[in-house]
Amino acid sequence: MAHAPSRLAHARPVPHIVTEIPGPRARAHVAYDETWTSPSLPRAYPIVPVRGEGLTVEDIDGNLFLDFAAGIAVTSTGHSHPKVVAAIKEQAADLIHFSASDFYLPIYAELCERLANLAPIKGGRARTYLGNSGAEVVETSIKLARYATGRQNVVAFLGAFHGRTYGAVSLTASKSKYHAHFGPLLPGVYHAPYGTVESLKWFDEVLFDKLVPANEVAAIIVEPIQGEGGYLVPEEGFLPGLREICDRHGILLIADEIQSGVGRTGAMWAVDLWDVKPDILLTAKGIASGMPIAGMVARADLLEKWGAGAHGSTYGGNPVACAAALATLDLIEAGLVDNARARGDQAMAGLRPLVTRFPRLIRDVRGRGLMIGLELDTAAHAEEVQWACFQRGLLVLQCGKSAVRMSPALTVSEDEMATALRIVGEAVTEVAARTDGISTAVPSGRFGSPRPRP
Ligand SMILES: Cc1ncc(COP(=O)(O)O)c(C=O)c1O
Repeated sequence: MAHAPSRLAHARPVPHIVTEIPGPRARAHVAYDETWTSPSLPRAYPIVPVRGEGLTVEDIDGNLFLDFAAGIAVTSTGHSHPKVVAAIKEQAADLIHFSASDFYLPIYAELCERLANLAPIKGGRARTYLGNSGAEVVETSIKLARYATGRQNVVAFLGAFHGRTYGAVSLTASKSKYHAHFGPLLPGVYHAPYGTVESLKWFDEVLFDKLVPANEVAAIIVEPIQGEGGYLVPEEGFLPGLREICDRHGILLIADEIQSGVGRTGAMWAVDLWDVKPDILLTAKGIASGMPIAGMVARADLLEKWGAGAHGSTYGGNPVACAAALATLDLIEAGLVDNARARGDQAMAGLRPLVTRFPRLIRDVRGRGLMIGLELDTAAHAEEVQWACFQRGLLVLQCGKSAVRMSPALTVSEDEMATALRIVGEAVTEVAARTDGISTAVPSGRFGSPRPRP
């Protein structure tokens, strides 16, 4: 058992389940929520959290969960890290908002400099724009790429997830339902096959030869490791090959590191794993431990092409969010990247035997650092494993067609990882034990039928 921090757990182990799951208060809350909130929200399962500390989450019924989902790979330093909380409190007491779009906020420029120095941008000299969310900086990067190159077309990848606003969702191609009934989408978007060196031939043989000349393509946007698409790690030569295509044709390479960045993969940025330098790098999620902020770091010469008023935002780079980001980066740079790598190795060693033990059910175990994916044979079985983990007090999250992802905080301890691996093993054993593969563990109703995770 992991030894949980004292504020939430006291002497209790983590996880510690004291009611049926979901408990009575959670069930009542889900009914209330579903009266008032947008049904478009793709809830995975009925966890109703009220407090968090490190990797421990207490739900509304007093159950303690071990969080290996981290708010969709966001709470990089764990829930409510004392140093992040202190930075937020201090900044909130000084100044909550002023708008860096129209005025000069010291902490905004400080974070821009920090990110520009941290991101491996081609050519070295970089500047930063701060927004509020991942999708928002994806939009920003499309605008900048078109503006700076004078070209209109953008290439994304099949399986990609870049967000849900109009430009971002036009690039997204992980599930057709994200496009359903929303068209027409942004014009000038093409989707390439992802991940293999062989597939890069598509650019010369299909895109540039048959669809659009290379000198009319502004940018190629890529997740160095696909996140929502299934935690897919590309072949070794894939990203360097993309860089070469971009260089050959004057196309900008945009690395969407919104999920893979800030140490999660055991490198500060996933592109570092392949020593590739993009022209534009996008960050969000883990950058501020849960405060809403996002960054677009770009070659300075690109940003210097667009003038005042070309882009901005009322809240983007809000001082409280900037304070959380700076505190988060201090923690990440003080050892958490190494921990992500070590705990990732521990996870791989623990999960890989499942492929040989349950060859029909477990098709693949993959990932880098703390982007860990377990591929099952069907979407229904992925959902069943997710549910069986939830019943045992471990929070994981489906992704892709039939995968379960583990994306804990980078502060995860060896004990916490061992506990999670034990629970995943038990969950897989339970699902494998069912002869026909049809779940009896997932109750009927809102969470009863296999629902693909967005
Ligand atoms: C790689 C990637 N890009 C963009 C986004 C969109 O970010 P947000 O939900 O903050 O708009 C996500 C969110 O999951 C993501 O994983």
